[in-house]
Amino acid sequence: MMNTTIASSNRDLDLQHLWHANTQHRLLQSRPPMEVASAQRCYVFDSEGRRYLDAMAGLFCVNVGYGRQEIVDAVAAQMSQLAFYPLTQSHGPAAQLAGRLAELLPEGLGRVFFTNSGSEAVETALKMARQYGRQAHPGENRYKIIARHRGYHGFTMGALAASGQTTRRVAFEPLPQGFLHVAPPDHYRCAFCSEKSACSLACADEVERVIRMEGPETVAAVIAEPVISGGGVFPAPEGYLERLRAICDQYGVLLILDEVTNGFGRTGKLFACEHSGVRADIMVFAKGLTSAYLPLGATVASEEIFAAFKGESDSSKFVQVSTFGGHPSSCAAALANIEILTRERLWENAATVGTYLLEQLRGIRSPWIGEIRGLGLLIGIELVADDCETPLPEARMVQLMPEFRKAGVLIGRNVESAPGFCNILLISPPLILNHEQADTIIATVADALGRL
Ligand SMILES: Cc1ncc(COP(=O)(O)O)c(C=O)c1O
Repeated sequence: MMNTTIASSNRDLDLQHLWHANTQHRLLQSRPPMEVASAQRCYVFDSEGRRYLDAMAGLFCVNVGYGRQEIVDAVAAQMSQLAFYPLTQSHGPAAQLAGRLAELLPEGLGRVFFTNSGSEAVETALKMARQYGRQAHPGENRYKIIARHRGYHGFTMGALAASGQTTRRVAFEPLPQGFLHVAPPDHYRCAFCSEKSACSLACADEVERVIRMEGPETVAAVIAEPVISGGGVFPAPEGYLERLRAICDQYGVLLILDEVTNGFGRTGKLFACEHSGVRADIMVFAKGLTSAYLPLGATVASEEIFAAFKGESDSSKFVQVSTFGGHPSSCAAALANIEILTRERLWENAATVGTYLLEQLRGIRSPWIGEIRGLGLLIGIELVADDCETPLPEARMVQLMPEFRKAGVLIGRNVESAPGFCNILLISPPLILNHEQADTIIATVADALGRL
């Protein structure tokens, strides 16, 4: 009784005062959001005590699963000892975390700037790339950034300009100048090579064409997620990142890898760049860095990049301060999270259970399935309306989603990513998912598609 009263008053307060993400509030009264009250391991519980298997790990982020007391204790101890100090000076948790990241990342990537979110970490990478371009290439004006359609890099103006998802950008234009977009590696719908059995890497070559047409002396960086995540799950095909690396090297352009969703075990390696062995100039993290127990973003540059910010003149330094970036409690959460991830080697479970999940999902016979793709525990199911591969209309996707929730499984879908192509179901559970829970996801998808 007590709970019901609290729940309904939370609901009223929510409907009267909260402004939700990506939500048309006109429709909210009839379809209020689920009030999540607690969570353990792979499950979340709503305010009425109903249990759901969280096949989205929140939003691609609770990698170690919910309810890890070890992280809670580390944060509580840190808060008692030092609640806050900005990184205009120093504190142990930030220094230790920067050192730990340098140990785990590909050799040479070891200079860490902390922020509060993935968007801010991307913003920081873009600013570093522009300033680096000018300082490392005197007389040139390297400011352009090349990104891919369907990729997502964040909601702040620069990160949004880099994002290749038109519908998310249109209301806020004009965005900062100098952002160009090329085709993503989407073999299923590729204009260059979908007729061929494997990717021809023409989409990677397109990056070179754009650099040449724009003039290499105007291009600062290429930014890419190794596996495009929220935009519909497009893993980099074999040879793709290697090709991007070679093009960047040839034209003096930086390669920024955005591992905000890919990093910390999600794709079956600790970092997604390990699948190709490609070393970026700058890497970007958030989400799995703390498994979302607290907010934290990190932009990690190579020592070569960092060296350009240590010139004779004071103005060669990187001028940016984030009050909360690198908050001691967030860094303590990240250190405890990384301890769990590495002790339990959770990327290995992501690889094993992810491969099983992908194979079993591919075994579902349904006319609505166009393509199923993924890497580790990051999987997308592209739904189609007919055998001409017409994307399933968004209205049908909207009808389908409550079926999963009714069955007690939280599955995602791509929204606002490409006009007419919001037809992809997203699966990105905690990395502790077991085979039985994978079977629940498979049965739920098969059942809901069977009734579509
Ligand atoms: C690849 C990628 N980059 C950046 C971001 C932005 O991160 P945040 O939402 O923490 O600002 C996201 C968020 O989903 C993302 O998926």
